[in-house]
Amino acid sequence: MPERKLSPVLKWAGGKTQLLEHIAENMPPRYNRYFEPFVGGGAVFFGLSPARASVNDSNAPLMNLYAQLKGSVERVIEGVRALDASPMNKEAYYAARERYNAKLAARELDAECAALLIWINKRCYNGLYRVNRKGRFNVPYNHAKTNPKSIDESNLRAISAYFRKADVTMTCLDFERACDGVSAGDFVYFDSPYVPESDTASFTDYTMDGFSHDDHERLAALFRRLDRLGAKVMLSNNDVPPVRALYAGYRIQSLEVRRMINCHGNKRTGREVLILNY
Ligand SMILES: C[S@@+](CC[C@H](N)C(=O)[O-])C[C@H]1O[C@@H](n2cnc3c(N)ncnc32)[C@H](O)[C@@H]1O
Repeated sequence: MPERKLSPVLKWAGGKTQLLEHIAENMPPRYNRYFEPFVGGGAVFFGLSPARASVNDSNAPLMNLYAQLKGSVERVIEGVRALDASPMNKEAYYAARERYNAKLAARELDAECAALLIWINKRCYNGLYRVNRKGRFNVPYNHAKTNPKSIDESNLRAISAYFRKADVTMTCLDFERACDGVSAGDFVYFDSPYVPESDTASFTDYTMDGFSHDDHERLAALFRRLDRLGAKVMLSNNDVPPVRALYAGYRIQSLEVRRMINCHGNKRTGREVLILNY
């Protein structure tokens, strides 16, 4: 549907670029509306670029970025260009992070906030998005040797055109509320924060609230409700016993994936599951 293939704008923990092909091959051949309640960096969503979609994430600055790309793409590009024009060093990174946090505290979710998010994401440690209990972004500088390219302007403009032409609804809600509009025949892809592989290897701090075992139980109950409703549902997570227990009775595929070493001790590969109700 878009004029060119779209790519994610941000590097995002748990990003699904490496599984995109497998996910696409395992999608139902036909569905009405595409729902992605934990869209994050949108590797799957942008890769598929569905004509009718409802995407959601509880991270407000992230959903602001997508809203700004839809309505004010040239202002976002100008904002990133201005940040790119300053010399790149540790001081510049922490000054931008301070400015970003001041905007979050003042609830100024605008084009400048979106530009800061893009620019910081390319320069923070591992492209992580992590906030403290007060909601302040606290990821340190990555000390990269080279100054990275912040944006592919033509990708941003193509995303903007796609958002304006396609029927795409964007919300910033808890995942359960984001599924209120799902009907029989719709397709829902869930990629929540993962159940940790071990007690020491958890990363669930994308938002102030984290993601607890109760949230995973709430998600499994929602999966079953949507199944009964007649929606087609796919979910990814770590291949660990608690996940297999939560989704017992559904079709489970196990896949080997490459890992970012820093987030998973010394293991270079791990296993993930894809759970399907069809
Ligand atoms: C594993 S990431 C999704 C990654 C995404 N598939 C990608 O390719 O980038 C999980 C996302 O869930 C969001 N999230 C966490 N708790 C949530 C909640 N209760 N409701 C909705 N979204 C939530 C986080 O902000 C994060 O972006």
